[in-house]
Order: sequence, then C-alpha cells, then structure tokens
Amino acid sequence: PEVTYVAADGTERKVQVPEGRSVMQGAIQNGVRGIDADCGGVLSCATCHVYVDPDWVDRLEPPSEDEEDMLSNTAAERRDGSRLSCQIEMTEDLDGLRVQIPETQS
Ligand code: FES
Repeated sequence: PEVTYVAADGTERKVQVPEGRSVMQGAIQNGVRGIDADCGGVLSCATCHVYVDPDWVDRLEPPSEDEEDMLSNTAAERRDGSRLSCQIEMTEDLDGLRVQIPETQS
C-alpha cells in the first residue's frame, strides 16, 4: 500500500509501505524527513507526530489510551487528525493514505 507524506512546505512524497509496517517505519526507511521517531516506535517520544488527512481519519483504528496520553506531548500543536505514526499499521485498506508532517518534532 502507498502512503503520501506531505511535508510542512507542501512537498509530497509517495512511498510503498509494506503491510504490517507502520507509517513511521515507511518514512524512516525511505528517508522521508520530518518524522524523527526517537524512541523507535514504542510510544514514548511523540516525535513521530503526523496530521492524518481528514478523509482518512475515520478509517484508522482509534488511538489507544497510551497514544492519547502521548498526543498531549507533541511539539507541534495537536489538531483533529493528530496521530503518532508508529501506531498506524499499514493494511491494503489504507492504500492511498495521506499524512501531513508537522513543522517540528522537538
Ligand atoms: Fe516514538 Fe512513535 S516513534 S512514539
């Protein structure tokens, strides 16, 4: 499945992210900038913050309680589509997913 990463300046990058991998891993493995993922995906850094496109928000599993907690610690402002990208696991259903990368993670 393909993910479109939209940088803070509007530049788009389309990347194939294998099923079972997270949106965060897809970014790191393909050199998409702006997702730091300091903790490597274990929900303790909030530096993998993304804004999920409004068309996609309701198609994702809702955030867990732990993700909710971490979402109050993001460097960039939290918005409606705010999610931690290490918690979004790719499936075929998510082909075409669009996420915007915030201006800062720290
Ligand atoms: Fe640290 Fe997602 S990579 S919370």
